[in-house]
Amino acid sequence: MSEPTDKWSAPGSGEHYAGPRFATARAAGRDPRTIARLLERHGVRGPILDAPCGTGRLSSTLARFGQRVVSLDLSASMLASARERLPGAALQASVSALPFRERSFDVVVSCRFLHHLQEREARRVALRELLRASDRLVVASFWDSASWPALRVRLGLRRSEGPRGRTACSRAELEELVADGGARVLEYATGLRFLSQQTFFVAERVR
Ligand SMILES: C[S@@+](CC[C@H](N)C(=O)[O-])C[C@H]1O[C@@H](n2cnc3c(N)ncnc32)[C@H](O)[C@@H]1O
Repeated sequence: MSEPTDKWSAPGSGEHYAGPRFATARAAGRDPRTIARLLERHGVRGPILDAPCGTGRLSSTLARFGQRVVSLDLSASMLASARERLPGAALQASVSALPFRERSFDVVVSCRFLHHLQEREARRVALRELLRASDRLVVASFWDSASWPALRVRLGLRRSEGPRGRTACSRAELEELVADGGARVLEYATGLRFLSQQTFFVAERVR
């Protein structure tokens, strides 16, 4: 099973992500705002895991909920850029084998990770781990295949990113994988349904 590690572990990748990748305030604020809205709606009752945390883009938003925040990423370069921003503990580890006991966190957040996993099996393993570490909620994003950009790729109007590129998946597949991990999808949140492929979902553990 391949993991999207190379492009994040190169020297300087952390600095690039912390700087030019989300250069405008509007672009930088979009994900934190969506996540804050979802967490306000569902509440935060205990510790939060941010996995992967990247350069700590979400850390101040998550810290506002007044609970312990643990951050994790596989890339030393991303963690090095994140350190001063991170409110609590930061670990270098993989989402596919989280170093936590079952139900260690009330909420597990995973932003802009699942669409980097090309294979369904890799998405299944990651979701199973994120759900296992959570006692209640997983708030994560994925690329929805029922979106205009994904449709353009299927119609050949837009170039696919290739076998190592970012990948969309269907809501049906996502719901199957979430059910496989003992949870159900409570809601989806997107900027503009069908126009933006980056979509958030909230999953709640049922067993
Ligand atoms: C697009 S960034 C998203 C970071 C952060 N969640 C955000 O929204 O800014 C993807 C991150 O996934 C991390 N990553 C890639 N494979 C990983 C894995 N198997 N386990 C943990 N982190 C991983 C990369 O190092 C990178 O920081």
